[in-house]
Amino acid sequence: MTANTAVTVRVPAKVNLQLAVGPAREDGYHDLVNVFHAVSLFDEVTVSEAQPRAEREFVRLSVAGDLGSHTDLVPLDDTNLAARAARLVARRATHAGPIDMHLNKRIPVAGGMAGGSADAAAALVACDALWGTGLSADALLAMAAQLGSDVAFPLVGATAVGTGRGEMLTPVESAGRYQWVFALSDEGLSTAAVFAEYDRLRPDAPEPHGDERLMAALAAGDARRLGAALSNDLERAALSLRPDLAATLDVGRAAGAVGAIVSGSGPTCAFLAEDEDGAEAVATALEKSGTCERTVRAYGDVAGATVVRHESA
Ligand code: C5P
Repeated sequence: MTANTAVTVRVPAKVNLQLAVGPAREDGYHDLVNVFHAVSLFDEVTVSEAQPRAEREFVRLSVAGDLGSHTDLVPLDDTNLAARAARLVARRATHAGPIDMHLNKRIPVAGGMAGGSADAAAALVACDALWGTGLSADALLAMAAQLGSDVAFPLVGATAVGTGRGEMLTPVESAGRYQWVFALSDEGLSTAAVFAEYDRLRPDAPEPHGDERLMAALAAGDARRLGAALSNDLERAALSLRPDLAATLDVGRAAGAVGAIVSGSGPTCAFLAEDEDGAEAVATALEKSGTCERTVRAYGDVAGATVVRHESA
């Protein structure tokens, strides 16, 4: 077998169709019912073999991205989740030398679309291919769960419900193709801060439950019904920290979005449109309104982390 010298993995962003949040647990996390939906907004992670160098520089990171994707917020040291993912895989490899890792970002940073988690998932898949570790899907999922609550989902993509911290995944039947518009904000929100605000606002939160209405709409491929069933328990907390997002949601609704919601912990707002023309109208209204920094369009669902290029020695 020829060894790979560089591997590129493409990985999607997610939007939460339902995010039901229970009370804070003893470990500080919250039990969730989290319906993840992968959308066609992709980061690419490339890992390549590097010359021998000091162990502390085992992973050397670089980042590039779209104007406005706020790549300056991405940590380039070992605290980066994707670098930590590479080190986890290296422990399981027979020969793992130092690597350069390049993140090409289109998923907004700190936007509530799990971009950092997506990069970590991509890094797991890319390093596994680079070093020929041959990790099973279950092993990769277990490593992902160790890295963070949202890292497992981008490995599988499509639509899935996450329980526990969000990392225990069950696929969900989803028919049709859904058209989304995302309104991006020029300032990120910290996931931990939004959960803390949730605890402050809802000290008596009930146990989280799935929503049959949402599942039925997804199975039927009905955008209108899906739009009406979207829900996010973190939305109130995100709006409490960023009251200006209410105006963004209003503009999208007025422009005909069949669903409007804060994405995950925010500040990105997600709008579901009935079709492509509807998405165009929502995007145009948002851009004109000045209530967001910019918009991006995407469709869902799409597959999870996939190797798109490899070079061999
Ligand atoms: O797991 P991850 O590192 O992505 O989580 C980021 C933060 O989000 C955690 O530190 C925690 O404050 C919050 N969180 C939570 N309950 C979850 C997932 C995340 O409280 N199920």
